[in-house]
Amino acid sequence: MFRVALRKKVTISRAPVVSPSFKMGFSSQTARLEGKVALITGAASGIGKATASKFISNGAKVVIADIQQQLGQVTANELGPNATFIACDVSKESDISNAVDFTISKHSQLDIMYANAGVACNTPPSIVDLDLAVFDRVMNINVRGVVAGMKHASRVMIPRKTGSILCTASVTGLMGGLAQHTYSVSKFAVIGIVKSLAAELSKHGIRVNCVSPFAIPTPFVLEEMSRIFPGVDIQRLIEITQNAGVLEGTNCEPNDIANAALYLASDDAKYVSGHNLVIDGGFTSFKTLEFPAPDQVH
Ligand SMILES: NC(=O)c1ccc[n+]([C@@H]2O[C@H](COP(=O)([O-])OP(=O)(O)OC[C@H]3O[C@@H](n4cnc5c(N)ncnc54)[C@H](O)[C@@H]3O)[C@@H](O)[C@H]2O)c1
Repeated sequence: MFRVALRKKVTISRAPVVSPSFKMGFSSQTARLEGKVALITGAASGIGKATASKFISNGAKVVIADIQQQLGQVTANELGPNATFIACDVSKESDISNAVDFTISKHSQLDIMYANAGVACNTPPSIVDLDLAVFDRVMNINVRGVVAGMKHASRVMIPRKTGSILCTASVTGLMGGLAQHTYSVSKFAVIGIVKSLAAELSKHGIRVNCVSPFAIPTPFVLEEMSRIFPGVDIQRLIEITQNAGVLEGTNCEPNDIANAALYLASDDAKYVSGHNLVIDGGFTSFKTLEFPAPDQVH
């Protein structure tokens, strides 16, 4: 997934941020998804799992759809009675269609579809060496899988004239150079899909949005990192991934994406559609001029 460039980041410890509402004694808002039903693909681990947990703690019932059957079941057990697992390979339209139908038969409705499943590409970085078979496989999961999820969610949401569709894009879909071409192109496409579908689904009262996370050391990123840095221990790989961020004193975590997904899924975002919510600590908003220090210029 990643293209590598070397840079230094100084990490300083600082006091935890206390939100104004906490200081004023207000309790945080809970149950923002009371009575809602969500289907999340790729929810056996990482961002999908964190979001499933967040949705459940906010009152939703969640169907976890993932290609990893054993882990998916373990995750559903861990998240409790409001989580159910269904095996699903998003590259197969019939699996997605089944997952949507399963959700309706179990809970009678689908309010939130989160097409989150995605894979890295693990190919050489140069266009000259691009493996088009890998390109097709990644597009099949990262792009076609998202479109299929939206298609079947729309099938059941349009008649109800309501729904929130989400998907996971990436900062690598906003700027070139952050990832290998195949992965990057797949995430640019996801952001495009959101806008294209929002154009049609808005007239049915359905909102379509995506989140674009910065690098988070989830299993698929760590697998990629261990290929780039063979033999380096996992803690160091986590540190290297996190140090790529620009916002000092904190790191991008699955829970940050889950919070963004909760906002977009909930009625708090009732007039937000066609939006790409970037969670990158400012990374894609600026570049700095790498001038030499004044005392080094004569
Ligand atoms: N971690 C990051 O740095 C990062 C940054 C930006 C975007 N993303 C995106 O976030 C999404 C979730 O990734 P994550 O970081 O949580 O990684 P993860 O490896 O923890 O989770 C990905 C999940 O998707 C599942 N999956 C893979 N192929 C599938 C398929 N064909 N059908 C169904 N499920 C499948 C995996 O089994 C796994 O449970 C992906 O779309 C990824 O591209 C991740």
